[in-house]
Amino acid sequence: MFTQDQLKQHAAQAALDYVLPYLNPDTILGVGTGSTVDRFIDLLALHRESFRGAASSSERSTRRLQGAGIEVFDLNAIQSMALYVDGADELDQDLNMIKGGGGALTREKIVASVAERFVCIVDESKLVERLGLFPLPVEVIPLAREAVARALRQFGGQPVLRAGFTTDNGCQILDVSGLHLDQPAQFEAMLNSVPGVVCCGVFAISGADIALVAGQGGVQMIERMLS
Ligand code: A5P
Repeated sequence: MFTQDQLKQHAAQAALDYVLPYLNPDTILGVGTGSTVDRFIDLLALHRESFRGAASSSERSTRRLQGAGIEVFDLNAIQSMALYVDGADELDQDLNMIKGGGGALTREKIVASVAERFVCIVDESKLVERLGLFPLPVEVIPLAREAVARALRQFGGQPVLRAGFTTDNGCQILDVSGLHLDQPAQFEAMLNSVPGVVCCGVFAISGADIALVAGQGGVQMIERMLS
């Protein structure tokens, strides 16, 4: 029986195997944030001479990438990337996700938007039938915190301020439980329209393209169906 930590390692190894054919001296990889991604960065470091560098989704990942000898590029200097690799807090079969448990959701969504493909790496505990058990992180401008919290209550949620936490963007996070995410893309669009919301942790308007889900029986690849 593998532990969750071991499964995260398996997912990270599967991600490395997936990205290896894309690595060449011009390649810049988009890199997410979290404990699964930390493992991916450590594996990627062994191939640092085979590619140009990375675009990072957080100060945490930037430090780890640079510590591993991988150059980190300003996203503004990058016009396109083939791949973005990141974890998730919840993933459904349609490859919609909840992200932001580590508080890096805004930069994650931005860096992912520049990449052609989002490769999601998770252990099987993250795979759910329906999103919403994991409290949804919503990054807010501090001035708007209470106004956004009221709007979230009207949507049926119970927002809780993530205490003592400031994002890399100088903002705050509301973790919202009790939401019904039957139609994640519509919900994401609705939250995006609330003044003061910087970003919500629903990744459905643009979800993952490929998921590598590490389980007891091996790593399963789920690909987005082209519509
Ligand atoms: C970071 O803000 C999150 O979106 C992470 O991608 C997510 O929390 C997954 O993290 P772990 O790999 O640590 O579970």
